[in-house]
Amino acid sequence: MTVPIPLIAGNWKMNGLAASLDEARAVAVGLGTFRGGRVAICPPATLIERLSRALAGGPVLVGGQDCRAEASGAFTGDISAEMLVDAGASLVILGHSERRAGYAETDAAVAAKVGAALRAGLEPIVCVGETLDQRQAGEALAVVTEQVRGSLPAELATDAFAVAYEPVWAIGTGLTPTIAEIEEMHVAIRATLREMFGARSDTVPILYGGSVKPSNAAEILRATEVGGALVGGASLKAADFLGIIEGL
Ligand code: 13P
Repeated sequence: MTVPIPLIAGNWKMNGLAASLDEARAVAVGLGTFRGGRVAICPPATLIERLSRALAGGPVLVGGQDCRAEASGAFTGDISAEMLVDAGASLVILGHSERRAGYAETDAAVAAKVGAALRAGLEPIVCVGETLDQRQAGEALAVVTEQVRGSLPAELATDAFAVAYEPVWAIGTGLTPTIAEIEEMHVAIRATLREMFGARSDTVPILYGGSVKPSNAAEILRATEVGGALVGGASLKAADFLGIIEGL
């Protein structure tokens, strides 16, 4: 039986200046000889190259938070997957709810970015998640599995990607779904991946994201089909991020 290698990724969002490199270095030092899974930090684009240099050869991978589907061109302010690779990134978060909501990113747009990321050699972390209204209307499972279907290119010929289930209402709020709700969703996402890509997708980690902190990480990470975490606020401080990783 194949099982995913766990992945814990920190999403710094629009936080971090040069001084924050020390927090990332502290994560690398704190990990020491940790071999329980993979660890990544996704800083703002301005820090990717410096962070990649600071962490080179160590246990912490560096990722971007978004990329454009095109490789280059007249797209002021945007960054391509090739540019992220060039700066030292090996992963990229795509389809985060803050981008879906703030930039009207559709599933199709996310799928195009996933294709571009894979072609450039990046491992995409593809985010999905329902709003509170959708959960209260009993639509969470349907909404999220539809997002999974629409946000991954159907012709995907690799298992080198991750899916992150991030309920929108749990992000930055301190609220989390129950363990049973997390498991129900992760099992449904696993079944959707199986349907789309067959057994080779069994090694794709399905991360949970939304108010993960040291005090709830171990219980969430033990849940069925939870293959890691995508961490926002608590990834900004090395001690908190390390406390979450200890939950693996
Ligand atoms: P918080 O951990 O701050 O709730 O954010 C989660 C998230 O959006 C990670 O991508």
